[in-house]
Amino acid sequence: MTENTTKSPNFHAFRLIGGLLVSMSVVVFEGCTYEVAPPPLPCGDISGVSFAGDVLPLLDVHCNGCHSGGSPSAGLNLENHASVAQSVLLGSLLERLDLPQTNILMMPQNGNPLPECDIALFEVWASEGAPNN
Ligand code: HEC
Repeated sequence: MTENTTKSPNFHAFRLIGGLLVSMSVVVFEGCTYEVAPPPLPCGDISGVSFAGDVLPLLDVHCNGCHSGGSPSAGLNLENHASVAQSVLLGSLLERLDLPQTNILMMPQNGNPLPECDIALFEVWASEGAPNN
């Protein structure tokens, strides 16, 4: 009994500290709740995409080392609007851009994937019907 009464105050102190820690962590967690709006898309608003001004320059930099000239890779020449539009609207061009780098079908072959916002340009252009603009 004597032992119990000497232990008792300490025991209460621990419970008090424990309780404080619990309520502090609740405050910390509440501080982490996401109350602001999510950040805007990193690409911003993409509009007015043009074949000549946006799409073709990207193809020339990333693709046309292989997909140009008389015998382009996969027989796919990406230097002219007609074949690019066909590959975007009916073929696999968009899917190829979106693959992870570990996938051998990812384009540009053996290169780095295009930046997200460059891929978004292709997607917006495709959603507008891949116009020759
Ligand atoms: C280093 C050369 C090389 C580069 C650069 C390259 N490609 Fe390719 N591409 C190939 C080869 C080889 C094939 C055929 C093998 C295959 O299907 O993966 C191919 C196939 C394709 C196909 C499939 C064609 C079909 O008819 O099935 C598409 C679409 C394509 N590439 C788009 C692109 C785009 C878009 C880029 C640029 C972002 C690009 N490629 C960059 C070599 C390349």
